[in-house]
Amino acid sequence: MPKFTEIPERDRIIVALDCDKQEALRLADLLAGHATWMKVGMTLYYQEGPSIVQELKDRGFKVFLDLKFHDIPHQVRGAAKAAVKTGADMLTMHSIGTIEMMRAGQEGVMEAAAEMGTDPAATLGVTVLTSMGQGELDEIGVARYIEQQVLIMAAHVKVSGLSGVVASPQEASELRKVLGPDAYIVTPGVRPATADVGDQKRVATPKAAFEAGASHLVIGRPITQAADPVAAFEDIVASL
Ligand code: C5P
Repeated sequence: MPKFTEIPERDRIIVALDCDKQEALRLADLLAGHATWMKVGMTLYYQEGPSIVQELKDRGFKVFLDLKFHDIPHQVRGAAKAAVKTGADMLTMHSIGTIEMMRAGQEGVMEAAAEMGTDPAATLGVTVLTSMGQGELDEIGVARYIEQQVLIMAAHVKVSGLSGVVASPQEASELRKVLGPDAYIVTPGVRPATADVGDQKRVATPKAAFEAGASHLVIGRPITQAADPVAAFEDIVASL
């Protein structure tokens, strides 16, 4: 895995394509030559299948395939292997699936890389979904404070050998202490100071998120719903 600190910040901004294929490819064509990473989530992937990953790869992008695996270890090994074979450069799994499950997912990634003769994809663990608060943790029987749960799950991600975590910008600095200087900390919930917050609650500006210790930022609507997505992307880069 390349050291993220050696990669310019512009190439560590991931554009979330939460839309249909036609719109995704329109945005990709506009942003080619500006952005390096595109994120494909469940909504787009389950409509279009693996071909959407390949279409973005064909346009020269790195693809973050955010399908958040959570199943028995054998299934996650197979899913991770298959995801890498679609061309994904980064993928996600739920840390709540256990250390054994995350290790299996990591093995699937390594097996695929060995068979393809490529560098292994980056692997991220989801600690606690940002849509969950203390009440939701209580609902599923987790008696810890949410901040404590995030750090414990991050430690599990680390011992499982994954590249890093998905986290809110507010958690990034504490996570950096647990995970060390090279781990990936990929943060959604990023909003330029002038942008509409939308349904994101715990937001930070791009500059603040990087300063808090994020390695990569995931930004969707402030770019994808802008009248001029390229200008929106470049304004974000200029704000760093
Ligand atoms: O449009 P917006 O910038 O809010 O998009 C953020 C992206 O990050 C979306 O694809 C969303 O699903 C994803 N995400 C998130 N919060 C998480 C994990 C992923 O907003 N905790």
